[in-house]
Amino acid sequence: MKVPQQVARLGVVFAAAIAALLVARSFLVPETFGELGHYRAAAIDSIAAHPKKYAGHQECAACHDDLAAKRAAGNHRGVACEVCHGPQQAHVDAPLDVKPPAPRDRGFCPLCHAYNPSRPTGFPQIDPVAHNPLRPCITCHDPHAPVPPAVPEECSACHGQIARQKALSHHANLPCVTCHQVPQQHKVTPRVIRPTKPAERAFCGRCHAEGASGPAEAPRIDLAAHHPRYLCWQCHYPHYPETQ
Ligand code: HEC
Ligand code: HEC
Ligand code: HEC
Ligand code: HEC
Ligand code: HEC
Ligand code: HEC
Ligand code: HEC
Ligand code: HEC
Repeated sequence: MKVPQQVARLGVVFAAAIAALLVARSFLVPETFGELGHYRAAAIDSIAAHPKKYAGHQECAACHDDLAAKRAAGNHRGVACEVCHGPQQAHVDAPLDVKPPAPRDRGFCPLCHAYNPSRPTGFPQIDPVAHNPLRPCITCHDPHAPVPPAVPEECSACHGQIARQKALSHHANLPCVTCHQVPQQHKVTPRVIRPTKPAERAFCGRCHAEGASGPAEAPRIDLAAHHPRYLCWQCHYPHYPETQ
């Protein structure tokens, strides 16, 4: 039977293609391909030859043992050093030449701590807009062993200026809570839970009105006659009520 002309031509084309493939294979397929299976055996060595970027937190402990111990005992025990300080093998190799950065600004911590409903229940989260704004997180939280900081007991811890002014005034001996009722939560979330402020003249009258039962050294005024159309603190600053 005679092979049709076009099939013979096709045969030549196939033969040429197969020959080209065989030649290319001997040039292009890497030498170690197939030694250990259907991949390039030398790949393991070439990957291993990449320069190391991350050192691992155990390495850091060799020199920063104090911080390593602190972190291991604290709430960030699960957050490795290089999560915050970046890959630092170069620093481990030459500690004095390579200085690792530290994430000191407010933008960083909310990557993990900003409120997000997909985070596990109970994971400590805050609203970065409302939670003590404008100050870096690390002014209040130690990044290596973070705890919610101790809540200051003294009013003067946060209202220093008022406390210092009052200390020099005729009201020096009146505790702040004489005039303000302060819920304990005010010291934790001061902008949300606010103390009371005196609202009317009669409040000051408790000590200053004629015949009032307050301390004897408080000067008395005629409450009905003494500038009756105004609140007392429109003229007397309550934390420094001096008349001259
Ligand atoms: C071989 C000892 C050594 C190792 C290991 C080491 N460090 Fe250091 N590190 C130092 C020394 C020394 C300094 C102080 C350098 C200076 O004051 O310029 C330093 C400073 C630092 C600083 C402060 C930089 C600054 O702003 O002052 C950070 C952050 C730091 N290391 C993080 C790390 C981390 C993360 C690791 C682990 C990946 C690590 N170090 C491993 C020796 C080491
Ligand atoms: C949650 C992020 C975070 C982790 C985790 C962390 N650091 Fe830091 N680190 C910081 C920040 C932020 C500062 C800057 C503190 C400052 O300026 O007061 C810092 C500062 C440092 C400093 C400078 C010296 C100092 O005390 O201020 C060194 C050294 C350091 N870190 C090493 C480490 C090592 C070692 C680890 C792991 C054991 C680690 N850090 C884990 C965030 C982190
Ligand atoms: C990679 C994620 C990550 C980053 C970045 C991170 N944290 Fe944390 N933080 C955690 C984990 C995990 C815990 C432990 C949570 C737990 O115990 O359930 C934690 C715990 C805390 C706690 C304790 C809260 C509590 O109620 O006990 C505070 C405060 C805190 N982190 C502040 C910070 C600050 C400030 C920074 C920035 C310097 C920061 N975190 C960066 C993951 C992170
Ligand atoms: C002015 C000080 C201050 C600053 C700045 C501050 N915090 Fe706090 N943080 C507190 C106090 C006080 C608490 C405990 C009371 C509370 O829950 O509000 C707290 C609680 C937390 C908690 C625990 C919440 C929980 O439900 O357990 C996390 C997490 C936290 N802060 C992260 C941050 C991060 C992240 C930043 C920066 C974006 C930051 N804090 C800035 C004072 C501060
Ligand atoms: C943790 C810090 C902190 C402590 C402690 C604290 N305060 Fe405040 N207080 C604030 C902040 C912040 C505001 C809001 C100031 C503003 O909005 O300008 C505030 C507001 C007030 C106001 C004004 C409320 C209003 O509606 O105008 C009074 C009154 C007050 N505090 C009294 C006190 C007294 C009294 C104490 C002590 C028993 C005290 N505070 C303790 C932080 C604190
Ligand atoms: C004699 C009563 C009195 C005492 C004592 C007193 N306050 Fe006040 N305080 C007031 C009155 C009244 C106002 C309202 C003033 C106004 O609305 O203008 C006020 C307002 C404030 C405000 C609002 C901001 C401002 O300056 O007007 C703060 C904060 C405050 N007091 C804190 C304190 C603190 C802290 C102490 C203790 C160190 C204290 N007060 C003691 C009467 C008092
Ligand atoms: C319109 C401004 C104004 C108002 C409102 C006002 N005062 Fe006076 N107050 C003065 C002036 C001015 C003096 C000093 C001159 C005098 O004795 O009349 C004074 C004096 C005083 C004295 C000192 C009296 C003495 O003998 O040393 C007391 C106490 C006093 N005021 C309390 C109050 C009380 C309490 C209120 C609210 C019920 C109040 N004031 C409202 C302006 C005012
Ligand atoms: C718990 C009692 C008490 C309350 C409430 C009180 N004061 Fe006084 N105040 C005193 C005493 C005591 C003195 C005098 C202290 C001294 O001179 O030793 C005084 C002094 C003054 C003086 C006189 C200052 C001077 O120059 O002689 C003024 C004005 C005054 N208070 C205004 C007020 C105002 C306004 C309020 C209301 C916001 C107020 N006081 C609430 C106890 C009180």
